[in-house]
Amino acid sequence: MKLDLNSTVTLNNGIKMPLLGMGVWKSANKTASQSVRWALKHGYKLIDTAKQYGNERGVGEGLTKGLSENGLKREDIFLTTKIFNGDEGYESTLDAFDNQLKNLQTDYVDLLLIHWPVSGKYNETWKALEKIYNEGKAKAIGVSNFNVERLTDLLSEATITPAVNQMEFHPLEQETDIKNFCDQNDIQLEAWSPLGGGEVLNNPQITNLAEKYNKSTAQIILRWDMQRKIIAIPKSTHEKYIQQNTDIYDFELSNEDVQLINNLDLEKRSLWYGNFAWNGNPDGIKDTIDEWDD
Ligand SMILES: NC(=O)c1ccc[n+]([C@@H]2O[C@H](COP(=O)([O-])OP(=O)(O)OC[C@H]3O[C@@H](n4cnc5c(N)ncnc54)[C@H](OP(=O)(O)O)[C@@H]3O)[C@@H](O)[C@H]2O)c1
Repeated sequence: MKLDLNSTVTLNNGIKMPLLGMGVWKSANKTASQSVRWALKHGYKLIDTAKQYGNERGVGEGLTKGLSENGLKREDIFLTTKIFNGDEGYESTLDAFDNQLKNLQTDYVDLLLIHWPVSGKYNETWKALEKIYNEGKAKAIGVSNFNVERLTDLLSEATITPAVNQMEFHPLEQETDIKNFCDQNDIQLEAWSPLGGGEVLNNPQITNLAEKYNKSTAQIILRWDMQRKIIAIPKSTHEKYIQQNTDIYDFELSNEDVQLINNLDLEKRSLWYGNFAWNGNPDGIKDTIDEWDD
């Protein structure tokens, strides 16, 4: 399978999305700006942020500087952001998104996601995303953290099928039921925390594979994502790791080793997906972490 840093998948509306990108969760504006500049320097084409991360201004600054430093145009980069839980609803989403564009120093995003399925709100939020899409301010629209039940409900009212579902996905947590549902409905799966937030990097089976292929454990996991055509957005604040995470195209995992990683799934279903409700906590990040601890 020939893969490189420019490899893309074609979304259900014909837009091409890079398979590998970089995320910036938990990075403050200044750090995010620097990470984005390093990412562009090392050839990344996809950057993932969210209002909830509080760093869209930093990403916007990093993007503007990085484009100019590397002789790139805005259309060379695929930029994703997300609607903040506290902004969900029709008018509030439209208002918030205009400000997000200003902070990102751009007049469109490539992908706009509903960050979380806030109960009682996500269907009207989706209508706002459809309007944003029809106005050309987002080249594609999708969701994040939607389980099968929430996706089914959204599809029953939606005019446009989400192009992407971004969810936690790594060797120990593969959410096969959601992945199968997305495949059947032509919704592209995108992996957040592809390295398990760093926690999967010491897994003994993956460490064995790293020795076998003479690669790091992060590189083995990201290569596995690429071969499975799952979009991955590892995050790092270190140039060394940002660069290392792109160096995954000079080897190929055998089918047996892909299967070995597939078999690491703990089949731990994230029940909190189904129960998610926005409790009004203005600290969005804390709110989502509380949900994880359930
Ligand atoms: N939609 C959602 O609800 C949602 C939720 C969570 C995350 N996300 C997105 O997904 C992105 C990635 O997820 P994540 O940030 O949670 O975790 P992750 O990418 O799985 O892991 C990031 C951690 O791994 C470390 N790391 C990265 N590359 C490494 C390497 N080659 N060797 C050793 N350590 C390495 C990083 O260290 P350093 O930073 O110290 O370099 C950081 O501690 C986020 O940034 C965000 O854009 C979305």
